[in-house]
Amino acid sequence: MRRLLPSRTLTALAAVFAAAAPALAGDPPSEETIAWFKQNCTSCHTIGGGRLSGPDLKGVLARRTRAQLETFIADPKAAIDSGDPYWVKAWNDSNGVYMPAPAGASPDRIRKAIDLIEAESAKEKSQFAGTAVSDRPLVADDVARGRALFEGTLAFREGAPSCIGCHSVDGLSGFGGGRLGKDLTHVFARLGGRKPLAAWLSAPQSPVMTPVYRDRPFTEAEILGLVAYLKERSETNAGAAGADLSGEPRTGGSGMFAFLAAGVGGLLAALALFDHFWRSRFRSVRRSLVEGSKR
Ligand code: HEC
Ligand code: HEC
Repeated sequence: MRRLLPSRTLTALAAVFAAAAPALAGDPPSEETIAWFKQNCTSCHTIGGGRLSGPDLKGVLARRTRAQLETFIADPKAAIDSGDPYWVKAWNDSNGVYMPAPAGASPDRIRKAIDLIEAESAKEKSQFAGTAVSDRPLVADDVARGRALFEGTLAFREGAPSCIGCHSVDGLSGFGGGRLGKDLTHVFARLGGRKPLAAWLSAPQSPVMTPVYRDRPFTEAEILGLVAYLKERSETNAGAAGADLSGEPRTGGSGMFAFLAAGVGGLLAALALFDHFWRSRFRSVRRSLVEGSKR
């Protein structure tokens, strides 16, 4: 039997279809896109699971055009600062928290993320409807653990630096915390409560924190500790301690010992941070010394 089309034509047709395929609606999002979305977006957004520190993304394509979303995601702050009432409202509803521009996101990545949001919005239950962190009750032990982790008197399992090196919070005594990051006294309320803060900490997304914490994730107990501590700080300062946490000992802070302890803690935190940033450098210096001595 004679072939209907020469194979070269078939190859050419296949190439045309392959090129057109990503643009066809209903093309299933790749594992890579799903992984990228998980890594960069789900610490602030669900799809159909309610708002975290950012709005629920379910059905966002009915609210904004693709072009508007592409421009916004590439540079959220610019879109908000442009004064577009939709983005200003979204920002106000998020207590003035700016969505960070996703690091190294090409226009193609952003388009694929929007395809994924559209596909997941159409499902009855999206795989991104929930968050991973447990919602068990927080207890006084959690507050104590969170405070120790924050101040660096207790080490994170994966060796992540403590928070005090860059952040202050009400109740730190002595020299207080670092100033590179925001004061976290009200961050629990600012990000919208327990679930949003826990999700945020499950994969910190900020230009300064992501590179430091990406490869040193917190355990669930560590996340719940930090959340409990920051909740207690936030509520204490709002003048209404939460019922489940009331009776927590308040921070001392006036005694000489507390003053010294905080100073030493801050120093240790700063050293840990330096160690973190410089370790790889020292290592390569050492390596070249070792190699030099071998010659
Ligand atoms: C650190 C938190 C955070 C991260 C991470 C984050 N967002 Fe956002 N996102 C927000 C906030 C907050 C808003 C509301 C506008 C504002 O205040 O910046 C928002 C708004 C949006 C909107 C508009 C929602 C609407 O209802 O109009 C889209 C779409 C969006 N984000 C997509 C993404 C995608 C895609 C990623 C991952 C690449 C991502 N976001 C990562 C916090 C975040
Ligand atoms: C190396 C410095 C550094 C360390 C260490 C650090 N942070 Fe941050 N953090 C920042 C900076 C800077 C920001 C502001 C966003 C940005 O510019 O990246 C931030 C933002 C945040 C936010 C969001 C605040 C908001 O209102 O949007 C939270 C929550 C947070 N940090 C919690 C923590 C916790 C908890 C720890 C300890 C486990 C920690 N950070 C350790 C630098 C740091």
